[in-house]
Amino acid sequence: AKYTWVDKDTCIACGACGATAPDIFDYDDEGLAEVIYQSDANRGVTEIEEGLYDDLQDACDGCPTDSIKIADEPFNKEG
Ligand code: F3S
Repeated sequence: AKYTWVDKDTCIACGACGATAPDIFDYDDEGLAEVIYQSDANRGVTEIEEGLYDDLQDACDGCPTDSIKIADEPFNKEG
């Protein structure tokens, strides 16, 4: 299983991830990215479906600040 979470402390609102993986990432009012997949609310607790793994990895690889985190276990962040 894969889970993802955006570290907003390091995101610079470059806008790449939402373009690469729009089913997983969107932006808040400040343009910072967050995981919106299945109402995850950037908690990193929602298992990403396998069909989106390529998009997820591409977004992670494309983030200039390495703010997109991916793990095999839920992150359990607060948002
Ligand atoms: Fe932020 Fe990286 Fe996305 S800088 S907007 S998390 S590509």
